[in-house]
Amino acid sequence: MSLQERIAAAFTEKFGTPPPLIVQAPGRVNLIGEHTDYNDGFVLPMAIDRGIWLALRPRDDDQVAVHSLDFDETAVFHLTSLTQKPPAGSAHEQAPGENLREVGGWAEYPKGVAWALQEAGYTLRGWEGVMAGNVPKGAGLSSSAALELATARAFQQVSGFGWDAAQMAKLSQRAENRWVGVNCGIMDQMISAAGQAGHALLIDCRSLETQSVPLPPALDGSGTAVVILDTTIRRGLVDSAYNERRQQCEAAAAYFGVSALRDVSISEFLAEADNLDPLTRRRARHVITENLRTLNAAKAMQNADAALLGQFMNESHVSMRDDFEITNDELNVMVAAAQAQPNCYGARMTGGGFGGCAVALVHGEHVERFVTAVTQQYQQQTDLIPQIYVCQPSAGASVIPQN
Ligand code: GLA
Repeated sequence: MSLQERIAAAFTEKFGTPPPLIVQAPGRVNLIGEHTDYNDGFVLPMAIDRGIWLALRPRDDDQVAVHSLDFDETAVFHLTSLTQKPPAGSAHEQAPGENLREVGGWAEYPKGVAWALQEAGYTLRGWEGVMAGNVPKGAGLSSSAALELATARAFQQVSGFGWDAAQMAKLSQRAENRWVGVNCGIMDQMISAAGQAGHALLIDCRSLETQSVPLPPALDGSGTAVVILDTTIRRGLVDSAYNERRQQCEAAAAYFGVSALRDVSISEFLAEADNLDPLTRRRARHVITENLRTLNAAKAMQNADAALLGQFMNESHVSMRDDFEITNDELNVMVAAAQAQPNCYGARMTGGGFGGCAVALVHGEHVERFVTAVTQQYQQQTDLIPQIYVCQPSAGASVIPQN
C-alpha cells in the first residue's frame, strides 16, 4: 500500500467517509549550492519522491486536528489561540537539526505555519485529517519543510486563497525561524513549495526567482540517476556549528561592506584575500566560489553536460571539506567511495553538514552496481551500513485530485 493509500484508509476509518482532499509536499536533496541561501546566493536543489501526505476535510470552526501515523499522536489546536508570541528567545538559537521531536515536537510545525499565515493576514479555516511521511527524519532531507508546506497546502485548499509558492515558502520559513526557533535559510521551503517533476530548480535566494533545469543525460544518451547516500551519522553539535557559520559569513560580508556575501565578486575577494584572517578567508571563499559553481552547474545541466555538472559537485565537496569545514570522516569516506566508481559523474556532501547525506550523479543503467560497491566500501571503512535512496526529481507541494 502506498502512503497515499494508507492515509486515505486511516482517514476513512477515523471519519467514516473517504477524504475529500489529499495534499502532498516533498523533501529535497540539494545538488549544489550549500550554505549559500542565507548569504542571498544561489542553490540548485530538487524535490524528491519522498514527502508528507495529508488527507483532510474542512471544519466549520477554528479547530485544526491532525493525526500523525508516524508518531501515533493527534495534535489539536485552535486558530484563534495562536496569537501568543513565539517562545521567548527561541528565534535564531537553533539551526536546522530536522529532528522533529527534539525541536518542540512535530505539532509545532503545523501550528507555526498557521501562526505565520495568520500574521501575514490570511483568514484561515479549521480542518481535520491524517498524515504520514517517508522522508527519513534527521537525515538532512528536509522532512520539516515537507511538513510545513503540506500544512500550507492544506490551509490554502480549505481556506480558498491562491497558491503563491514563494510566499508560502517564506511564511513556512518564518514559522520555522520564529515559531519553532530553527534558524534555517529559504532553500528547503522554497524547493518543497516550487519543485518541478524531472527538474532541479536554480533558486536565487535574494529575489526568489527560480529556473527549472532538467537532469542531464548520461554520456551515451541514456538517463542519469540522483542517488542519496545516507551516512546514518546524525549531526552532533549542528546547531552551534550552523549558527557559527552564519555569523562568520556575516562578519565576512561586513568586512567587504555589503549586506551579504552574494555581493562580493571573485575578483573583489581575491584582491582582499591576503588581508582577511585565515578563517574568514576560508569561509568567504567557500560561499563566493560555491555561488559561481552553482550558476555554472545550472548551465552545465542546460547544456546536457553530466560530466561537467559532476566536476562542479566534486569541487563543491572539496570546498565544504577544506574551506567551510562542514564535512566529517564518514561523509568524506562516502563521497570518496562514490567518486571512485566508474559510472559516477560526481558526488558531494549535501545539506547542512556534519553528518546526514551525500548526493551522487550516476549513470542510470549502472545504479545497482554503484549502490553495491559504495555500500561495501563504506561499510568496510566505517563499520556502518549506509542507507541509499535512488530519487526522482519531483513536483513541489501539490493537491492530489480525488474523485
Ligand atoms: C539546511 C538549511 C538550509 C541551508 C542548508 C545548507 O538544510 O535548512 O536553509 O542553509 O542547510 O545549504
